[in-house]
Amino acid sequence: MPKLRLKLRIRKSKGSGKDGSDGTATEPVAAEELVGGSEEETEKRPLEPFSGLPGFTAISAAKPLNLRDYEEVESYPLEEPWVYARILRHKQTSEYIYYVYEIALTPREKKLYNQIMDALYWELKPPPSDVDPVAYFHREARRIVRTFQIRMGRTPGISWRKILYYVTRDAVGFGPIDPLMKDPEIEDISCNGVRRHIYVWHRRYEYIKTNIVFDREDDLDNLVVKLAHMGGKHISVAFPVVDAILPGGHRLAATYRKEVSTSGSTFTIRKFREDPITIIDMVMGNTLSPEVAAYYWILMEHKRPGMVMGVTGSGKTTTLNALLTLLKPSVKVVTIEDTPELKLPLENWVQLIPRMSYGFGAEGKNEITLYDLIRISLRYRPDIIVVGEVRGEEAYVLFQAIATGHGGMTTLHAEGIDAAAKRLTSPPMNIPRGYIPLMNFALLIRRVEVVDRVTKRSRVVRRITNTWEIRDFGEYIPVHKWNAYEDKHELYPEKSFLLRHIMELVGWTEEQVRREIDWRATVIRWLAAKKMRSYQEVARVVREYYQNAERVYTKAVSELSEMKGFTEGKEVI
Ligand SMILES: Nc1ncnc2c1ncn2[C@@H]1O[C@H](COP(=O)(O)OP(=O)(O)OP(=O)(O)O)[C@@H](O)[C@H]1O
Ligand SMILES: [Mg+2]
Repeated sequence: MPKLRLKLRIRKSKGSGKDGSDGTATEPVAAEELVGGSEEETEKRPLEPFSGLPGFTAISAAKPLNLRDYEEVESYPLEEPWVYARILRHKQTSEYIYYVYEIALTPREKKLYNQIMDALYWELKPPPSDVDPVAYFHREARRIVRTFQIRMGRTPGISWRKILYYVTRDAVGFGPIDPLMKDPEIEDISCNGVRRHIYVWHRRYEYIKTNIVFDREDDLDNLVVKLAHMGGKHISVAFPVVDAILPGGHRLAATYRKEVSTSGSTFTIRKFREDPITIIDMVMGNTLSPEVAAYYWILMEHKRPGMVMGVTGSGKTTTLNALLTLLKPSVKVVTIEDTPELKLPLENWVQLIPRMSYGFGAEGKNEITLYDLIRISLRYRPDIIVVGEVRGEEAYVLFQAIATGHGGMTTLHAEGIDAAAKRLTSPPMNIPRGYIPLMNFALLIRRVEVVDRVTKRSRVVRRITNTWEIRDFGEYIPVHKWNAYEDKHELYPEKSFLLRHIMELVGWTEEQVRREIDWRATVIRWLAAKKMRSYQEVARVVREYYQNAERVYTKAVSELSEMKGFTEGKEVI
């Protein structure tokens, strides 16, 4: 579909495109009212034949490739008509590349761009405190571009809209990596140093190389400084490591120059989704099954402490967030994270983040660590303390909090339950072995490869592959396992001692436990079948279920039975 659109645009364009000026701009663009760059004023250039064109300006880090060696797999606009993503495959090596195609500035436009950026630098005043700074900078960028345009009068061959695109990209956006930030298919962006290709994690192509490369150390250093500032932090030779949250909630980790990395400045951005992945999304993608989700839901309702395990980027924080939305809306939660990633539909929620210290001499004096925050959080009398990730001495305080009757959830970087228990009981966490079962359950999320039975094609997906209940150090009861061969989840509720505890606590019979799993699984299946997956919808139905389970279940069954492929709330196979 995007490819089609690109082709269509090519047919529409008539010009020769000698100087690399803009595309046809037949579709509406952002700053319509400003633009003098009408059809006759802007030279047209076809989008397709940009192989080897030296069209990329110094301010773009997107490198041209010899496109004759590649075939296009797909393409789609990131911001029409200025920038497109093209997925290319090398004809010989089959290597994929994420090709950012940005319409280049002509030399004249570039000169104007430089003048406008200068003017912005000198004229821009800090935004008033009651104004959204991003909206303010957008407005100011437009105003200054417009002032230039009016001052210059008729300017054939100049596309002011294109200049505005670059000015906002660099002044308000993320500069040369802005196109990557705009692509909702991209989860992660990593730059491993100067003169190295930036890699992205793409939902359909996994890790894929881009054509974005910083050739000059200064350009990369400047970008890293800018990113750190955007996250309200400081990075320099004296403080060469930064962890920050960028506008829009994206998580940044960066290093400066060669202080701590051999290849110059580096950064990684984990993109934040405005619209978080919910338990229903996870069920729809078969990361877990409705029954397993129902089991977790019962544990969450009864505030059983648990731990999400997995390797980097496996989806630990996402899973934690999805589980926390299953809590009763009345519970009081304190979350403690290095960088605030969690987003919960709860009223009674306090989100704490540590404060770094930049001081010399009295070093660390003003620092407030995860450890401090967990200790202080106990004063808030939370029902549940959530620690984004445990790594050090804070783990001990969390376990102590659980020992004194609080609920607790966390994530841990580990590849399995044995490795996790070993990590927890070794330095620097040093949890006594006897404390391990305080964490009642643990689940493992992994990126795994599954092969489609019909097409025989393999793809990488996320699966919660195991859930254990922790009876003791070294004694882990498997209550759920993902069957890789069939790509199915198997739940063994009869093995669960936690369900038995809950049963005794609330006076359920075994039959009632089974019914509770069945009801909740049906509600989840219903939400998935109806694609009611948004964070707000899930929170609303969970709330309703807590108020009147039977009403929600009856509705789920009746709506499911009207849908093809479902009878009595069960899927027909
Ligand atoms: N079940 C899922 N289905 C699809 N995408 C997912 C799923 N879980 C996570 N993701 C995506 O994967 C990326 C990494 O997820 P997340 O931040 O939860 O991982 P993590 O294990 O906490 O990583 P880290 O170790 O860096 O903290 C995110 O962009 C997220 O949107
Ligand atoms: Mg995480």
